[in-house]
Amino acid sequence: MKKIDRETVQRILDTADIVDVVSDFVSLKRRGSGYIGLCPFHNERTPSFSVSKSKNFCKCFSCGKGGSPVNFIMEHEQMSYQEALRYLANKYNIEIKEHEMSDAERERESERASMLAVNEMALKHFEHNLTATEDGRNIGLTYFLDRGINEASVKKFHLGYALERNDALLRDATQKGYNVDYLVKTGLCIRTDTGRVYDRFKGRVIFPVFSVSGKVIAFGGRTLKKDVAKYVNSPESEIYKKSHELYGLYQAKQAIVKHAKCILVEGYMDVISMHQSGIENVVASSGTSLTEGQIRLIHRFTEDVTVIYDGDAAGIKASLRGIDMLLAEGLNIKVVLLPDGDDPDSFAQKHTSSELEAYIAAHETDFIRFKTDILLQGVAMNDPISRARVINDIVQSIAVIPNQVMRNIYITECARSLGIDERIVALEVTRQSMAQAEKASVKAQKDAARQSLDDVPAPPKKAEETAQETSPAITVESTNPELEFIRPFERRLLQYVLRYGMMQLAEEYDDADNAVTIYVIDFVESELSGDGIQFADPVVLKTFTEALNLRRTSWEADFAANEARLLEERSRYIADGEAEIRRSDSDLATIQRHEKELAEKADAIYFEHQRQFASAYIEKVLCSHLDDDIRLLSLDLVPEKHVLSKVHTKFSKVETDEDRLAEIIPRTVYELKDALLECRLRRIRAELKNSVSTAGASPDHIMTLMQEMNEVQHLRGEFAKYLGERILNPRK
Ligand code: CTP
Ligand code: MN
Repeated sequence: MKKIDRETVQRILDTADIVDVVSDFVSLKRRGSGYIGLCPFHNERTPSFSVSKSKNFCKCFSCGKGGSPVNFIMEHEQMSYQEALRYLANKYNIEIKEHEMSDAERERESERASMLAVNEMALKHFEHNLTATEDGRNIGLTYFLDRGINEASVKKFHLGYALERNDALLRDATQKGYNVDYLVKTGLCIRTDTGRVYDRFKGRVIFPVFSVSGKVIAFGGRTLKKDVAKYVNSPESEIYKKSHELYGLYQAKQAIVKHAKCILVEGYMDVISMHQSGIENVVASSGTSLTEGQIRLIHRFTEDVTVIYDGDAAGIKASLRGIDMLLAEGLNIKVVLLPDGDDPDSFAQKHTSSELEAYIAAHETDFIRFKTDILLQGVAMNDPISRARVINDIVQSIAVIPNQVMRNIYITECARSLGIDERIVALEVTRQSMAQAEKASVKAQKDAARQSLDDVPAPPKKAEETAQETSPAITVESTNPELEFIRPFERRLLQYVLRYGMMQLAEEYDDADNAVTIYVIDFVESELSGDGIQFADPVVLKTFTEALNLRRTSWEADFAANEARLLEERSRYIADGEAEIRRSDSDLATIQRHEKELAEKADAIYFEHQRQFASAYIEKVLCSHLDDDIRLLSLDLVPEKHVLSKVHTKFSKVETDEDRLAEIIPRTVYELKDALLECRLRRIRAELKNSVSTAGASPDHIMTLMQEMNEVQHLRGEFAKYLGERILNPRK
């Protein structure tokens, strides 16, 4: 491979847009000024992969991977720098001049690249056979057309034909200068013990398998005869790991993102026929049961999956377990059952696209109900043992669902369709999920223990450090884990009160329609007292109380006095300015213009001074407070603000916390509340665990605990929604 010249490299780097490049692999959502999605480099359920268009840069906050568009492609596609550049050049149609490769050069090329190149050549070979050879047209193309696959679909999926010969591909490839080793490594050819080499695919129609980025990584060949294995597929290789690929994803990914849904079918023909009838968000697991790798692949593009089953019930039970894995990954699963005797392929061929869409819409069932129905088929109402087995099976599926709100919906649903008490189902689900959680946590502990042997201990967080040094009261309490957990949230909230407590957050109107200013500290106070929350950390509480005192006792008078002073200053400023203007300007228009400018400037100065007064009001008193605890904590929490303000004045465009108080303050309050709920949840869980494992525990008590747990979880869900919206629309 020749090196790409510097000018072209620069052009590629200038053109490649990070959002565009990443979007080919990750479904991105807008968040604030950037984008966010599920990290493609590690397994996660909540997005921490962040993409900045302005910086043309991406980064995962969880695993740390990312970088420029080139870095991203290198990492994601496991390419060298040169390969990644070529990939991007191709994507953006940037021309790279290239010479015919010499033998020596070809040998230097990486093995992977060579295998992909061989596959690419084979793809062209098979496609050419199908449309431009007599056998191909008569046998292969005719077969597709007979099955209702049109030429557009043939092109779109790059369908092909392998001639009925032992060496058709082999000869074509060697003539073009490709190395036989790579034909064998990709599995296109087979080498016998005696060293003879022959084509794997013979007299079969060919379905190429593309990676998510559009590279040919494997082939499936379907026979046109009876009495032979129906499908022959490429073996696993350096470039093809079957369990990490989905047939059709490359062609479907845009539609999946667009419709926020992925339809899952079984085979090649199903995907192609559905595409042809206009439903393009379809992928196939290629006959085998789903793997975790495939599920993660789907999750990168959407959370909603609809599985389409053939009418034949035999296969269904076998595949139910695969669906539990989808549930555990946090995906929302629906199921569509086709009429008896139809598979997606035949059904799509028989119906128009609107009929197909209507059928799916009308027959989509949520998975738990579907599974219940299937399992209950043939189980008599009066057969308690079989019924118990069914219940147990359903409960297992519900217990793997990570989202508590969804879980509750399914519990209700399941109890109703099985005709049993909802509380019994709930209790069973709790038992199961605790058993699962226990297993997971034992494993996590083991993993952590193993890892800690290699790790250097992480440096302690700065906030914690200073807290320990400056506030003896805190150190004494530090054995309480709940307080440890809550403290950072409390301190953060207090920090905002100290820094911005007397800044205006909003205006409200009282009964007499007078405007009442709501200051930051008022909002915090009413939010906390409204929920009966008191700061748990005694020093935080003491400091907050003192700030509140200040606001209640001296603020109004101090503000008024300052206001009088500022207004007086303003009048003096204007008077001086006007005298100056009249002295130097003669015509009326100029005088009026200058006077207007003067008034605006005076206003600006007035408002800035008012802001400064409010901003400094609380911190000034508390940072020089006589009480050591209050003074030291305040000194600890306030400083950074001034650094920010300086930046603010120097580059006026930089947004500071102060500009975003309406967003930050409510969020910080809710984060504290959420942390408190988390504590409560932990307590309930511990007690529940205790009760469930105690033999004589009262079921009523367990139910009460569980109900309480559900309520708390529900509340947290509401907070999460609130916080999520805030994050998505910071300006609202
Ligand atoms: N499959 C496979 N290897 C096999 C059998 C099946 O890879 N030996 C995969 C293929 O992806 C196939 C899918 O499983 O598309 C479903 O198998 P099947 O229903 O038998 O095939 P169809 O694709 O429906 O084929 P046709 O309709 O042409 O009979
Ligand atoms: Mn079929």
